[in-house]
Amino acid sequence: MAQKNIGIIGVGAYLPEKVVTNFDFEKIIDTSDEWIRTRTGIEERRFATENQATSDLGAEAAKKALENAGISADEIDMIILATATPDYLVQNTACIIQELIGAKNAGAIDVNAACSGFVYGLALAKGMVASGINKKVLVIGAEVFSRIVDMEDRNTCVLFGDGAAAAIVTEVECGTGIISEFLGAEADKTGSLRTIAGGSKVPLTREALDKKENFIQMKGQDVFKFAVKALPKATLEALDKASMKASDIDMVIPHQANVRIIEAASKRLEIPIERFYLNLNKYGNTSSASIGIALFEAWEKGLIKKGDVIALTGFGAGLTYASVIIKWSY
Ligand code: COA
Repeated sequence: MAQKNIGIIGVGAYLPEKVVTNFDFEKIIDTSDEWIRTRTGIEERRFATENQATSDLGAEAAKKALENAGISADEIDMIILATATPDYLVQNTACIIQELIGAKNAGAIDVNAACSGFVYGLALAKGMVASGINKKVLVIGAEVFSRIVDMEDRNTCVLFGDGAAAAIVTEVECGTGIISEFLGAEADKTGSLRTIAGGSKVPLTREALDKKENFIQMKGQDVFKFAVKALPKATLEALDKASMKASDIDMVIPHQANVRIIEAASKRLEIPIERFYLNLNKYGNTSSASIGIALFEAWEKGLIKKGDVIALTGFGAGLTYASVIIKWSY
């Protein structure tokens, strides 16, 4: 059987309107714009309104991706939603998005690979299309992290933002599409990035709430050390599978967590920082949405052309790390 070429035919993104600047945080916690900018590169981020859940953000991004792909929602036969902040713990959020966008012919599943989720989603979608199970898969990364960060914890609250992105994965022109993928994981045994309560291990009791265990907890330096290794490793593993070198990449779209992590990866990969697409200054870390939002922006600005080789690389809680190499199809 001839091998299928599978890639992206449309991308979209949605950012909530509410902008929260570093100066806004100066008013509520002991921090400064200078500290946040120099340690992370973040200047502002978006927060969802009280009425907006992850599904609402995801649905808006999905509609944009469908429009840009020029297809209708009922052509989608699978929705893969990457999120670590689902609407509910039980009842998957992909089903809610299916209803919101009217994708009545689609199966729907959530995947949680945290900030690597969008890349995991693309790889899974490729597999679904390659196997013949599905024809057109809608991959979404959507998060409302503002609901799970403690706005009094300066170690975490300044880092994250809300947003969503989407891509349509299907068969594409010969010689283009997703060339290779690497999906990595290792257990985070020390709880370097975790929300303790609300799952099966630690139920959401009053005591857990008093200890603020419903909020994300992070050991920043541990995550930093993991990230500076994981980003280059995942990219190089995917390049190796594609029989390509770092110098073959036209653009790296990394997870947008911290500009210092990306600069370190740029050095290790020997890919100039100018070839990394960065927008974390505007949106902060939007977890599984960040790579998709950056991809959409780069495409919308005309920075990605047909035939360009792009590496999408993520790392995050789990711990997970992942990369796909794509030859852009349109
Ligand atoms: N404003 C001011 N000071 C802050 C602060 C803030 N928002 N957050 C932390 N600090 C303080 C700390 O309390 C600490 O003070 P202390 O020395 O008195 O205890 C000091 O700054 C230095 O903290 P440290 O953790 O050493 O800073 P850092 O240079 O490692 O930067 C991070 C902290 C969080 C920016 C950095 O570790 C990081 O980016 N880690 C990765 C996080 C990440 O990307 N997570 C998501 C992955 S998907």
